[in-house]
Amino acid sequence: MKDLAHSADASTVEEAMAAQNYEKAIVDSEGATALAMQNTLLTPRFYTTDFDELDAIDVSPVREDWDKLIDQMKSDPNKGHFKKNEDWDHIDWDGMEPKLKAEFIDFLVSSCTAEFSGCVLYKEMKRRGNNEDIVTLFQLMARDEARHAGFINDALREAGIAVNLGFLTQKKKYTYFRPKFIYYATYLSEKIGYARYITIYRHLEANPEHRFHPIFKWFKEWCNDEFSHGEAFALLMKTDPKLTSGLNVLWIKFFLTAVYSTMYVRDHQRPAFHAALGVDPDWYAHEVFTKTSEISKQVFPITLDIEHPRWQKGLEALQRANADLAQAKETGNIVKRVGAMTRAAAAFVSLFTIPAITHRVPDSTRLEPAY
Ligand SMILES: [Fe+2]
Ligand SMILES: [Fe+2]
Repeated sequence: MKDLAHSADASTVEEAMAAQNYEKAIVDSEGATALAMQNTLLTPRFYTTDFDELDAIDVSPVREDWDKLIDQMKSDPNKGHFKKNEDWDHIDWDGMEPKLKAEFIDFLVSSCTAEFSGCVLYKEMKRRGNNEDIVTLFQLMARDEARHAGFINDALREAGIAVNLGFLTQKKKYTYFRPKFIYYATYLSEKIGYARYITIYRHLEANPEHRFHPIFKWFKEWCNDEFSHGEAFALLMKTDPKLTSGLNVLWIKFFLTAVYSTMYVRDHQRPAFHAALGVDPDWYAHEVFTKTSEISKQVFPITLDIEHPRWQKGLEALQRANADLAQAKETGNIVKRVGAMTRAAAAFVSLFTIPAITHRVPDSTRLEPAY
């Protein structure tokens, strides 16, 4: 294995994780790693699954699209991209407004954990599998996520912070999900990741005065990686029509509702960050949901009705309940805590029971990034 200075130049996930910028991350700042270790409903988790079942997938029904996608990922257009270059402007971390600084660091740590969560899951699948198609795909995705996480850690290091990724791998709790739940959740997180990154990128392209940190300049190539990962999961689901029909449609609705509402609540916890970007979090959420819904029609037979009068109301109720819950936890007020939890559950049920929009899924799933 080559000894590399930077994960951006790695060809494999193993090389990326042995690169010098990963090594340096071990000089940890406890706070950041502690934040990344959290397992709440709103923080990124690490996942494990039934790897044998995943390994048994036969991709022959989607062979043509599959080979095209794998060839494109192997050609590796983003090799060397995820590291600082002359476009990386200097950041005055000490001069940054404290509230913005705290929220931005929280954003970076949570993004780094989410990227690394993908890396760990994909790497493990690659390690455990024997199916050539599956192993190849997961190796390529793990490579990308390792680069993404490494790059975010580079940005954090300038603020004197780093997430100890080796520690996380060993010590963070792993949540078990059946393979089909991994497909729904991971497919959605890749596609919503694409929609989030491209929406910020396009917004800052039009309003460069709001680009308060250089990392946003990297979001375009970044979201293209996430787009491809989402394509791979769409193809995996396409190999078995049962995954997207019958009772499973209810599971799809559940994951859509959970992923969308989690994003809404989490983003509303970072008002200073969104103000600095010049982005209204309600507008942003609506924009990201619209894009994700449009994309997910490639494989899901339903989309959520985000124009329904109960949708925005439900999100706001969930967000308020969550804020009250956090406050009740801090003050140790059990009655308030139970009240807030009940309201959060009711808001979620209200969102989940909005009738979904159904449509016909096209025969071929393949899409290109269009936003
Ligand atoms: Fe990623
Ligand atoms: Fe990804």
